[in-house]
Amino acid sequence: MQIILVAAIAENGVIGRGNALPWRLKSDMAHFRALTMGKPVVMGRKTYLSIGKPLPGRTTIVVSRERTFAAPGIVVAPSLEQALTAAHGDALRRGAEAIVVAGGADIYIQVMPQATRLAITEVHMHVEGDVHFPPIDAKIWRETSRSEHDAGEGDAAAFAFVHYERAAADVPAASAQATGRN
Ligand SMILES: NC(=O)c1ccc[n+]([C@@H]2O[C@H](COP(=O)([O-])OP(=O)(O)OC[C@H]3O[C@@H](n4cnc5c(N)ncnc54)[C@H](OP(=O)(O)O)[C@@H]3O)[C@@H](O)[C@H]2O)c1
Repeated sequence: MQIILVAAIAENGVIGRGNALPWRLKSDMAHFRALTMGKPVVMGRKTYLSIGKPLPGRTTIVVSRERTFAAPGIVVAPSLEQALTAAHGDALRRGAEAIVVAGGADIYIQVMPQATRLAITEVHMHVEGDVHFPPIDAKIWRETSRSEHDAGEGDAAAFAFVHYERAAADVPAASAQATGRN
């Protein structure tokens, strides 16, 4: 099962400000919808609250340590491990080949060691913000495709869709533990 981190990142690493996205990028919203449709999507409680509703056509799995947190149309998981287990089961039921992890920074940092792919939108602007994407280590991640796009209608900046896979010699942390490698 693939675990894909999907994120839009400014040139200075910013991904959010004031629990919202710091830009409007209509093209990236369509890209996100296409990447995630029919799949389980795991996100932190803050990201869920910034979206404000379940994602249609996808299973929205929200991670929170808050025992009373609940909302219609979402699955709440009390730990990341339980969220990924629920997502795995959901993907199998749906016949999906991947789990999507949609942020925010708190979640990206924790899942990155287990992720198998990154689907990054590089937003070609510098912007002030209070949350950042963790560094993408070139020793671990290999860029496999890149498409550059001018800003279209409803886009604050030009952008690139970039995909990464793990370098051949690297294995996700969970597999390394299972095989005794480190
Ligand atoms: N540019 C992008 O692609 C993108 C994507 C997503 C989000 N964002 C932005 O990122 C910001 C939000 O990110 P964030 O880092 O502040 O918050 P977040 O990752 O969305 O959510 C953090 C919350 O998730 C829960 N959580 C985290 N780890 C957990 C664990 N191991 N077990 C159980 N619960 C866990 C906790 O919820 P409780 O406090 O309820 O316990 C924690 O407060 C917003 O500005 C948003 O717009 C940007």
